[in-house]
Amino acid sequence: MDINYTIFRRRIFAWYAKHSRLLPWRNNGTTIDPYRVWVSEIMLQQTTTKTVEGYFDRFVKRFPTIAELAAAPIDEVNRLWEGLGYYRRCIQMHRAAQEIVTRFGGVFPNCRDDVLSLPGIGRYTAGAILSIAFDQRQPILEANTIRLHARLLALRADPTQNAANALLWNFAEEILPQKNTGRFNQALMDIGNLICTCQEPQCLHCPVVQFCETAKLGLQWEIPYQKNKEKKEDRTEVALLVRKQGKILLVRYPEGVRWAGLWDFPRAETNAEQLNHITSDPKLRERLALITGRRLEPEILIETIKHSVTRFRITLLFFKGIDHGKISPSENTENTKPYEFRWVTPSELQHIPLNSTGRKLVQNINQETIW
Ligand code: ADE
Repeated sequence: MDINYTIFRRRIFAWYAKHSRLLPWRNNGTTIDPYRVWVSEIMLQQTTTKTVEGYFDRFVKRFPTIAELAAAPIDEVNRLWEGLGYYRRCIQMHRAAQEIVTRFGGVFPNCRDDVLSLPGIGRYTAGAILSIAFDQRQPILEANTIRLHARLLALRADPTQNAANALLWNFAEEILPQKNTGRFNQALMDIGNLICTCQEPQCLHCPVVQFCETAKLGLQWEIPYQKNKEKKEDRTEVALLVRKQGKILLVRYPEGVRWAGLWDFPRAETNAEQLNHITSDPKLRERLALITGRRLEPEILIETIKHSVTRFRITLLFFKGIDHGKISPSENTENTKPYEFRWVTPSELQHIPLNSTGRKLVQNINQETIW
């Protein structure tokens, strides 16, 4: 269908003037700080506005400028990010802040190639920052707008598949107004979020329903096409509470593995079929030794947590463990480098960035006499 873009845009703007969401990173008419837009857009990657609302103000209050973020120790930045997930975003943002200081004198760049050259910024985030902070005519495409556009066009293909995705980007660009692009893009995201919802789209209240091919066909529950959700795989992991002279052993995940940069109790997978085989599982001990460079022995089960990470549904068994000291280099059969480790006091734990199960375990052991 041919959309009359003039009417389409007018309706979008009129709707936004009445219904825009009040979100902490929106300046609602006053000057816009590209730094705040950047922080919010990185936090909003794969994360809902509701979750980000609890983090954004705290973060920009502690780091009000790019220079202050760049100068902060990574552990402090990670600690403020703790619980938001996808921790690579945080490390990359910290690195990007340092690059902005060295390459652009601490001023957020407004040239698309420069923005795209920064760690953690892809096509969507660059489009969002450039349109919202600099009113450049740049398209965006994220979860809300993918759903909205797929429905407007009655796209009968998986939106993540290449050809369908290219079509959606083209559409996102075509519909842009000449100015106020940032407002327009944010309006699209709000319509996607509040009106064009997954389960119960509010077509009666949609300002652009007259242009919607899906509504015409009554296919709102079929479009967008859903990829077959991957089934989660079950696995069992063991974490160890190892104490020595009032301190406990923590390791830091290195780059390239899940939770990179965060600290945790020594933790590894076990394939033992039964609980009473875990304490003697040789493979588990070997994995723990490779991670810590120490011979650790699980002794008593003190807590169980169930949680999901990516495609895994994990049962995490938290054991009190014993440290038998360093392994000799000849025992390191895979010749790998152990993770960074630290012995920490209970009070230090409050300042160290932990993954969410690590934090949960800390809170529980703090309340227990076992400490
Ligand atoms: N999702 C991603 N970026 C957003 C923004 N700027 N406003 C609302 N939702 C968003």
